[in-house]
Amino acid sequence: MQFKETMNGWIQGLLGFVRNNSRLLIVAVVSVVVGIGIAGTYGSLIDYTSHLEFCAHTCHEMEATVYQEYTHSKHFKNEFGVVVACPQCHVPHNDWPATFRAKFFAAFELWNHFIDKEYELKNFEPRRVMLAKKVWDEFARTNAATCKSCHQYQNMVLTDQRPSIRAQHTDAMKKDENCLDCHKWLVHKQLIKPAAPTSFEF
Ligand code: HEC
Ligand code: HEC
Ligand code: HEC
Repeated sequence: MQFKETMNGWIQGLLGFVRNNSRLLIVAVVSVVVGIGIAGTYGSLIDYTSHLEFCAHTCHEMEATVYQEYTHSKHFKNEFGVVVACPQCHVPHNDWPATFRAKFFAAFELWNHFIDKEYELKNFEPRRVMLAKKVWDEFARTNAATCKSCHQYQNMVLTDQRPSIRAQHTDAMKKDENCLDCHKWLVHKQLIKPAAPTSFEF
């Protein structure tokens, strides 16, 4: 009997609170619903624009160039059937402000596409060297964080590597070196020839 009365008291109290604060509660509920809506839309947009299909086939300039080259690389086809999609190298992982920043700046590519008419390859090709340099700068800034999200020096079985490679990686591991110091043009066309060796190196 006492339990029933206590419960009744609580319910009355709760109803009273709702009656007295109805506006505040409506604002709170609407805020939560709008918040979930925004978070859901943001998440869906990030997911949608992070698919290989989106990155490779939305813009003709990507589909006809960098994508074609990548399909001949080991990061697209290999004996294990592992596919490394564009954003796994090009978009930061597990760091939402960095992902937001990357996606925000990527949105400006719409300008390059429509206004600078990059969909015409004659306009896109001359810009590739500049774009590649921007990507290198990004990898230098993060010390190749996206590569290292899959490949860790510590987890390389160095004894399975050819001695020449093992030596390079043993050294690189000590400095936690940026992979791109040695692995440029891994999945896309080589745009610049390596600088000719100087006479000292002969
Ligand atoms: C999502 C995971 C993933 C990411 C990100 C990734 N890789 Fe790989 N990588 C792989 C897998 C899996 C293979 C093995 C493919 C094979 O050779 O069978 C591989 C193979 C390689 C190879 C040997 C094959 C070749 O093409 O010469 C190199 C070198 C390499 N990766 C370097 C890199 C570098 C540098 C980056 C960053 C720019 C990177 N990887 C990003 C998963 C990844
Ligand atoms: C100091 C130079 C150097 C650095 C830095 C370096 N590598 Fe390498 N790596 C090489 C060389 C040289 C080879 C052999 C030639 C090739 O396959 O391009 C090689 C080969 C590989 C291979 C193929 C191994 C095999 O047994 O065939 C993978 C995978 C690889 N590197 C991944 C990486 C990743 C990932 C990073 C960064 C975490 C990295 N490397 C940093 C020099 C380097
Ligand atoms: C294994 C990592 C990796 C993957 C996967 C990858 N890229 Fe790249 N991408 C790079 C690196 C590193 C560069 C810098 C130039 C270089 O060394 O090839 C680059 C450069 C570029 C550039 C600048 C122009 C140029 O020709 O270099 C564009 C555009 C680009 N990537 C788009 C894509 C698209 C689209 C995909 C998927 C179809 C993709 N990338 C997949 C690592 C990757």
